[in-house]
Amino acid sequence: DAVELGKYRHYMQKEIFEQPQALGNTLEMIAGGGGISPQLFGADAVGIFGATRRVLILACGTSYHAGLVARYWIESVAKISCTVEIASEYRYRDSVPDPETLVVVISQSGETADTLAALKFAKSLGMNKTLAICNVPESAIVRETALRFVTRAGPEIGVASTKAFTTQLAALALLTLALAKVNGRLSDEDEAMHLAHLRHLPVAVAKVLELEPEIEGWAQRFASKHHALFLGRGMHYPIALEGALKLKEISYIHAEAYPAGELKHGPLALVDKEMPVIAVAPADSLLEKLKSNLQEVKARGGELYVFADAGSEIPQSEGVHILHMPEHYGLLSPILHVVSLQLLSYHAALVKGTDVDKPRNLAKSVTVE
Ligand code: G6P
Repeated sequence: DAVELGKYRHYMQKEIFEQPQALGNTLEMIAGGGGISPQLFGADAVGIFGATRRVLILACGTSYHAGLVARYWIESVAKISCTVEIASEYRYRDSVPDPETLVVVISQSGETADTLAALKFAKSLGMNKTLAICNVPESAIVRETALRFVTRAGPEIGVASTKAFTTQLAALALLTLALAKVNGRLSDEDEAMHLAHLRHLPVAVAKVLELEPEIEGWAQRFASKHHALFLGRGMHYPIALEGALKLKEISYIHAEAYPAGELKHGPLALVDKEMPVIAVAPADSLLEKLKSNLQEVKARGGELYVFADAGSEIPQSEGVHILHMPEHYGLLSPILHVVSLQLLSYHAALVKGTDVDKPRNLAKSVTVE
């Protein structure tokens, strides 16, 4: 293990730091310039994407959170209605099948029993436009779908998923562009802009990794707490969910995530100085609203940890800690913000001394029900 880990203490830390490379590898086919090619998803992609009227994403765990981010992208860029469902829910409920729906399954391992069963269930209902986004090319899930995109994160050993998640998001960004292009909803200028952002992503993520020492300082402060609340809005709400999941999985601190606008409908009752609140605060159109949510937390004595963007002006004050992300990144911003939350959980777990790579009661791949 010592050799493979190199300078890192855990696989999770190594995998967090491998993300620039993993993203570069996953996006290799767009590196050379030119436009987005739908055939990245398979020979029949143009036909299937052109006949897609809706998208249904099915997944579990962290992969489900990737799907939740993609929903914002697909509806806003490709203008195709998109729903995201937990595989273990979908497979057991009555739903209305629709042959014009593209069923997208997301899985790091490609072996998750519920995701595979949900895919087979959708197919049994006559939904044969299927796409797998998966990190293992020869897995069971990949063998079941009409189209596929294999992420190139490399083997992920830490139970808590990190580089698989960000490469799934990169794949989903490509999917969004391919769907938009085939359906005539992507101008040449927008295509060039989105592709330029994707190509710059490994560098942008590397800059976020440089924040590790500061994030470590934050983790020291709240590792002694028993609860934490994560807030985000819009496409960063799923990133808040993922941040809370990471913290639960490896540090065993109870964490919840809420879309910031829901604060007043319940969780505000829990806020006091013992409950740190972590806010994902990109400089987007929702920033002003988020700031007023943060005021509500502050007024109740809550301690705030804000991941702000380069351009977000949120003043530091008593009980309000601000960390500025190196860049503001538009549509792909969730990919940058999640990296800082991965580091936060990792360092909180280190302080607590838990078994970071093999948290109690959890498995890397859940192949039984
Ligand atoms: C397990 C793992 C998670 C993972 C989930 C889905 O719970 O511990 O990290 O997100 O399974 O796995 P998949 O391989 O389908 O992405």
